[in-house]
Amino acid sequence: MARKPSIMIVDDEEIVRTSLSSWLLEDGYDVLTFESGKLALEALGKKQFDLMLVDLKMPGMDGLELMKEVKKSLPDMPIIIMTAYATVDTAVKAIKEGAFDYLMKPFDPEEISLTIKKIMKQQMLEQENVYLRKELAKQFQFHQLYSKNKKMQEIFELIKTVATTDVTVLIHGETGTGKELIARAIHAESLRKDRPFIPVSCASLTETLLESELFGHEKGSFTGASNMVKGMFEMADRGTIFLDEIGDISPKLQMDLLRVLETKEIVRIGSAVPIPVDVRVIAATNKDLRKGIENGTFREDLFYRLNVITVDIPPLREKPEDIPLLIDQLIEKVNIETGKSVKRVSEDAMALLMQYRWPGNIRELKNVIERSVVLAKEDIITLNEIGPCVGHISRAPAAAGDLSLESMERSHVAAVLKQNNWNISTSAQILGIDRTTLYKKIKKYNLEQDK
Ligand SMILES: Nc1ncnc2c1ncn2[C@@H]1O[C@H](COP(=O)(O)OP(=O)(O)OP(=O)(O)O)[C@@H](O)[C@H]1O
Ligand SMILES: [Mg+2]
Repeated sequence: MARKPSIMIVDDEEIVRTSLSSWLLEDGYDVLTFESGKLALEALGKKQFDLMLVDLKMPGMDGLELMKEVKKSLPDMPIIIMTAYATVDTAVKAIKEGAFDYLMKPFDPEEISLTIKKIMKQQMLEQENVYLRKELAKQFQFHQLYSKNKKMQEIFELIKTVATTDVTVLIHGETGTGKELIARAIHAESLRKDRPFIPVSCASLTETLLESELFGHEKGSFTGASNMVKGMFEMADRGTIFLDEIGDISPKLQMDLLRVLETKEIVRIGSAVPIPVDVRVIAATNKDLRKGIENGTFREDLFYRLNVITVDIPPLREKPEDIPLLIDQLIEKVNIETGKSVKRVSEDAMALLMQYRWPGNIRELKNVIERSVVLAKEDIITLNEIGPCVGHISRAPAAAGDLSLESMERSHVAAVLKQNNWNISTSAQILGIDRTTLYKKIKKYNLEQDK
């Protein structure tokens, strides 16, 4: 915080406002005082505050009501509730509803000073932390892709080198691994970046439709062709065409495509006139095209034309180090979209996410996190949200990623503890071990209860 930290005091008693503000001014803070919740809320819309000191009992809107209102728009605002009637009950209620701390009247200036210093320091560290994490994430970002994985970093380097040439690239990877993002990154790095990037899904269309989609057709070339229509190759002129799921195209189209790659010309359906096109071709597949060659479903000559450069994207289960990084990015994105302020994933939920096999790769992770952020009741995503998505599968041994007994045991123990609110006796009973053994396992696996 470069500017002076600013503190808002809300109390209906003037003597409290003046004495408190004079102490805090002395401590070097910027202080503004308000005599009601209503005035405080108005001020919050106009100026940024770092901390609020709020009296519990006030006529009109009381402290807890004010806090609820504030948290709606400023969920991270630290609020200290002040009260002369402090009972354990009110204090607990205040904290439960989101107060950072509470102070008893009459005040001890020293105590106030210390409490506030502590909060300011914590705020500063949190901001620094967020900043550092963002800076770190940038290092692992390449266009819209994030990865710490060594193979992925090599792919990013490869893309930078080949992007400025016009060579065809064949991208191979399981579903949801980011094939399209890689294709877009190649385009974005190339000299063609200001021209169109045209994705065509080769699997979803019939042969005739795909042919017309790719090469266009002349008016009257078939029933229903009432106008001349340009194909994707012509639309992508001087840009990039992305042929997704290339493994699924028919033998005839394989031949047509080969001809386009060799002659750099297309012929619209119903025409005999070749039209020159300047298009960079990127193709993707989740199949093993070499197998297709072996069993005669994919042309070998086309394969070698496409496969000048291969990018082989590893599946998510082979790069678990990317899971926390991707989760951070996804949480931040969904927070912005939904106005939530989810901070992280609890430790036991993370353990489950790390050992899950992710058959749908990053797309699946994205769905799970988006759903969990929306469902999260507090600012931490827990097993409650994650469990229903991945729990049943990860428990089936055949589908688990890290199959070591230790890792399974760790996440199982964590899950049972969590389900039982860390009640050691109950958890030990469910696990069928005694309490001492459970304590040893907690220590061994470094398990911690989420606050
Ligand atoms: N490295 C990455 N960093 C961040 N997001 C990613 C990354 N890889 C993939 N994604 C996201 O995952 C989702 C799937 O990516 P994409 O569509 O590129 O995969 P795909 O391999 O083309 O999938 P499919 O085989 O199903 O067509 C997208 O939402 C994409 O934004
Ligand atoms: Mg795709």
